[in-house]
Amino acid sequence: MKKLSVLLVTLISTVVIGSSAFAAGGHGAAVDEVHMNMSDKASLQNGAKLFVNYCLSCHSAEYSRYNRVAEDLDIPLWQLKENLMFTTEKEGDLMKTTMPAEDAKKWFGVTPPDLSLVARVRKPAWIYTYLRAFYQDESSPSGWNNSLFENVAMPHALYELQGVQRKVGKADLESHGPIDAHAASDAVGEQRVVGDTVFELQHPGKLSPAEFDKAMADLTSFLSYMAEPAQLKRKTIGVYTIAFLIILMLLCIVLKAEYWRDVH
Ligand code: HEC
Repeated sequence: MKKLSVLLVTLISTVVIGSSAFAAGGHGAAVDEVHMNMSDKASLQNGAKLFVNYCLSCHSAEYSRYNRVAEDLDIPLWQLKENLMFTTEKEGDLMKTTMPAEDAKKWFGVTPPDLSLVARVRKPAWIYTYLRAFYQDESSPSGWNNSLFENVAMPHALYELQGVQRKVGKADLESHGPIDAHAASDAVGEQRVVGDTVFELQHPGKLSPAEFDKAMADLTSFLSYMAEPAQLKRKTIGVYTIAFLIILMLLCIVLKAEYWRDVH
């Protein structure tokens, strides 16, 4: 019995300590919280569109098929074909990049990783911060750098949308608290904080900072969906299961009362 309780305590503490270390991301850098709503199909659809248009040229998502994504996100087939697929692809194809891995290695020094499971490895808050933390840096080979991933080999794929920002320095998060990014306008010279870094806008993009943040939350949600497609259904199934158990419990109570009526 004693052995069993020691085993139980060890098991529980391993799970608790392990999960809290995992929740911290293991990278130690400040990341911004991301608001995702997995039942918001419009948001997931927008994320899918951004992914196909801006990321699939370099990264693949080889564990996802176009038709499964369309079905899960309620994207009609014609829309899938027109907006999300290259003409040579079939609906049941895997989401592969068109860039040969050897060429990518030559150009960037590293092959862009497959993004199917990136939201499990990196966590959504990390991805959300990473996508907003690119800045211009003449000293880097691509002309870009990233405050969350120093000397990253990935260029800023979304500068058209975000615009071009310059790194000002580290933010003093303790004395000021994070600056509200949503309050930032798209005026040149406007400062905002992403993660633990202050940036200054040099050229506005097609989207305002608030719109860009929303778009990145959509893209992060899509990456998170890809990492675990079942989560869209899992939550609904959970609600049904609990409802079923409650009804079953009520029936059992009634049944018990019925059985014991003659005894008392
Ligand atoms: C021009 C090619 C290119 C495009 C376009 C591109 N990436 Fe990348 N990406 C890379 C390369 C190369 C790396 C590897 C960086 C490194 O290890 O230094 C990378 C790394 C990443 C990582 C970090 C992976 C990890 O865990 O280390 C994420 C996340 C990512 N990309 C997401 C995206 C998203 C989302 C898009 C679309 C908005 C995108 N990328 C578009 C080339 C690209």
